[in-house]
Amino acid sequence: MMDWTDRHYRRFVRGLTRRALLYSEMVTAGAVLHGDRERLLGHDEVEHPVALQLGGDDPARLAEAAAVAVAWGYDEVNLNVGCPSDRVQRGRFGACLMAEPDLVADAVRAMRAAVPVPVTVKHRLGIDELDDDDHLHAFVGGLAAAGVDRVVVHARKAWLTGLSPRQNRSVPPLQHERVVALKAAFPGLPVEANGGVRDLDTALDHLRRVDGVMIGRAAIEDPFLLAGVDRRVFGEAWPPPTRAEAVLAYLSYVEERRAAGTPWTALVKPVIPLLRGVRGARGWRRTLSEGATRRDAGPELLAAALAALPDDVALARGVAPPDDVAIAHEPALRREPASGPVPRRAPGGW
Ligand SMILES: Cc1cc2nc3c(=O)[nH]c(=O)nc-3n(C[C@H](O)[C@H](O)[C@H](O)COP(=O)(O)O)c2cc1C
Repeated sequence: MMDWTDRHYRRFVRGLTRRALLYSEMVTAGAVLHGDRERLLGHDEVEHPVALQLGGDDPARLAEAAAVAVAWGYDEVNLNVGCPSDRVQRGRFGACLMAEPDLVADAVRAMRAAVPVPVTVKHRLGIDELDDDDHLHAFVGGLAAAGVDRVVVHARKAWLTGLSPRQNRSVPPLQHERVVALKAAFPGLPVEANGGVRDLDTALDHLRRVDGVMIGRAAIEDPFLLAGVDRRVFGEAWPPPTRAEAVLAYLSYVEERRAAGTPWTALVKPVIPLLRGVRGARGWRRTLSEGATRRDAGPELLAAALAALPDDVALARGVAPPDDVAIAHEPALRREPASGPVPRRAPGGW
């Protein structure tokens, strides 16, 4: 998600879930090919598994950019066919590509041939008047024939004129039943549902019918919900982390990045919503935001804000149902590349 799921966010939420696949912000193929790669693609080893989302409309350039992404260590390349913003439309990519199924299929084919990791597409149910299941299924059929490894379906259409990107995330109604019908039509293709998932109960409910769930806004507005993912979604036995553990796991990174000159506001942004709706949230937000005026704001300030939290908030474990309701969900969220597993830090290394 633009302006949110940057490397700092991803590094921080790895303290909450080791298993969820994390996605980057969208980066255009042109930027990957000609821009500052360290700034656009640089990430921490701990972030894996992590997908790079690309925007673009030129199969050859997308393939080239995908190869660069893999050289930089990304575990998956995802193509954005869901963003409706004017800027993106002017570049002729994002959601408007739903009107050009052959071009998107060509892009998938080219990326598939260029990289050994999964190539996935995030798209809408439709755009404007191109919004029926015939079109949707033909679009996805083309992707499947081109070798797409998974589709992520934002379960609403987009109106390309008349609605802002923000309105396009809430005004067109969610139609998750159409994602389920899509899965039924393509039983062999992993289908991930996205849109309106605010809690893990809802995510688990979707997982009875589709292969994966992408959580967008709730993962930035209430990141602590991710603390229950490994146990509840993946059936992992390790204890769900506490807020304190997640912050402590992030401190050394804050120290490192501050020393390298990263602004405090960028580092603290993902941490501020950690206390959504619980006691101490206001003081937490105030302390961390006030830090923005201090030149020396750094890990000590974060540690002090943590120490000021009520114990029951700092030390509460993320959603921890009884073990017998945890379900082992074999993740369709990612597949190992054909050439073998991507080396990544073993659990425990975060
Ligand atoms: C601030 C913001 C930035 C977003 N940036 C992207 C993006 O870069 N790529 C993308 O595919 N979707 C992006 N989205 C859309 C989300 O990924 C998601 O599809 C949408 O918000 C619906 O899911 P949700 O109800 O779980 O939030 C963005 C959403 C928000 C709120």
